[in-house]
Amino acid sequence: MVIILQGAALLQDLTIVRDSSTSTPQFRSAVRRIGLHLAAECSKHLPTTEVRITTPLEETTGCTISGQVVIIPVLRAGIGLLDPFLDLLPEASVGFQGLQRDERTLTPSEYYHNFPPPNENSSYIVIDPMVATGGSMSATLSRINELNPRKIVVASLIAAPAGIARVMEDHPEVTLVIAAKDRGLDKKGFIVPGLGDAGDRLFGTS
Ligand code: PRP
Repeated sequence: MVIILQGAALLQDLTIVRDSSTSTPQFRSAVRRIGLHLAAECSKHLPTTEVRITTPLEETTGCTISGQVVIIPVLRAGIGLLDPFLDLLPEASVGFQGLQRDERTLTPSEYYHNFPPPNENSSYIVIDPMVATGGSMSATLSRINELNPRKIVVASLIAAPAGIARVMEDHPEVTLVIAAKDRGLDKKGFIVPGLGDAGDRLFGTS
C-alpha cells in the first residue's frame, strides 16, 4: 500500500525543502515538521490493543500500541526524521542501518547495522527522506524481514516512481507513506525535481 500525504502546511514545507536557496537550519526544521505528518500517518498503521482504564468519572475503554515499535533511520539522512518520530512514539526503540549508495553503480553498500533485539511482537518504521532507485530501502527491508516482523511501515519525504515500484515489488507487505511522488530520476540517479542530496543539506556537507 502506498499513501501520499496532502495538506497546505505539508506542501508549504515541501516547497521549502525543494528550494535550493533554503539554508541548512531552515531545511532541517522543515524536514522535522514534515516528519511529524509522516509519523502521524505511520502511527495509524501500527497494531493496537484495547485496554480498560478509569477516568476521574468512570471506567472506559482505551487503546495502546501493541508490542515493541522499532524506528530504523537509514544513515545518514534518516537521522533528520528521527526526532519527530520519537516525539509521537516516545517509547519506541531505535536501530540504525548505515548504507552508502555508490555514485556510479547506484548500488547501496552496508557500512553499519545495529538493530535492537527483536521479539515476536516487534513492528518497524523505516525512515529515510528519499527513495530514489529504491535500492537502499529494499536492502533495509530485507534486513528487517530476517527478524520476522509483525508490521513494517516506511516513511519518506519524496520518492521516484521507479523506487516506489522497486520497494513494492520486492516487499509487497510494507505500507509506504510519502509526502510526494516526484517525476523521476536524472542520469546520476537523483530524484527530479527532488530536493538535492538530503544528507548533505541536513548536515551542511554539500
Ligand atoms: C540517499 C538517501 C537514501 C538513498 C536513496 O542516501 O538518503 O538513503 O540515497 O537512493 P536509492 O533509493 O537509489 O538507494 P546516500 O546514499 O546519499 O547517503 P547519505 O544519507 O549518507 O547522504
